[in-house]
Amino acid sequence: MLTVEAIHTYYGKSHILHGVSLEVRPGEVVGLLGRNGVGKSTTLKTIMGLIHPTEGRIVFEGQPIARTAPHRLARLGIGYVPEDRRIFRLLTVMENLRTGLDRRGVTEERRNILLDKVYQSFPVLAERRYQAGGTLSGGEQQMLAIARAMMLEPKIILLDEPTEGLMPKMVAQIREIIGLLHRESVAILLVEQNVPLTLEVSDRIYIMEKGVVRHHAAAAALRSDDSVIHQYLGV
Ligand SMILES: Nc1ncnc2c1ncn2[C@@H]1O[C@H](COP(=O)(O)OP(=O)(O)O)[C@@H](O)[C@H]1O
Ligand SMILES: [Mg+2]
Repeated sequence: MLTVEAIHTYYGKSHILHGVSLEVRPGEVVGLLGRNGVGKSTTLKTIMGLIHPTEGRIVFEGQPIARTAPHRLARLGIGYVPEDRRIFRLLTVMENLRTGLDRRGVTEERRNILLDKVYQSFPVLAERRYQAGGTLSGGEQQMLAIARAMMLEPKIILLDEPTEGLMPKMVAQIREIIGLLHRESVAILLVEQNVPLTLEVSDRIYIMEKGVVRHHAAAAALRSDDSVIHQYLGV
């Protein structure tokens, strides 16, 4: 469904990705692990068209997308929740969710159906629908960011450290949301520092080190033998 083939990405003159390759199949949850600064977020940003690779290919459903603008990728069915969440603090929860739909020719009726569906999956957002985004807790803002991405009914969603800085109760809720997306056959590329959570929810795992993928394996294999995790992540 999504294939990343030997991409090289630079920030100015800094060569960050040195030939990253990975693949996500339809409906699959794929974990992308690695220490801080190895290029996980840069990989997601490159897939999402926020930075263009200088070499390599990115193919989504058979179509090369390495030169495609982010809003067009969103329309093709790629959802993205960045690390900083980008909630509009002064807009209400409902307005934040509706911004997810603005650029598409969606009827008002369809918007309301999508809103209702998202509210069913996130009761806390339904309760707070008229509250300003900035008044939500960190965990609630993360849910709002994921819910907003879901408004476009993505086929795949790129999640950048969704549990970062969250209380255990909220981490559990994010895990449930990942499970819900998985049951709805939405593919997920999950960047995380939380190794146990990633091993638990993922089908397959890629481990990055210094701008390349060093290892990939079935999550089940790493659950029963975590020596590779120790080797690359030191946890
Ligand atoms: N906007 C930027 N400009 C220059 N260097 C950057 C920028 N963003 C990240 N980097 C550098 O790129 C490397 C990889 O960063 P990143 O992809 O954010 O890593 P990770 O998400 O794995 O922690 C780091 O060395 C980081 O300092
Ligand atoms: Mg990062």
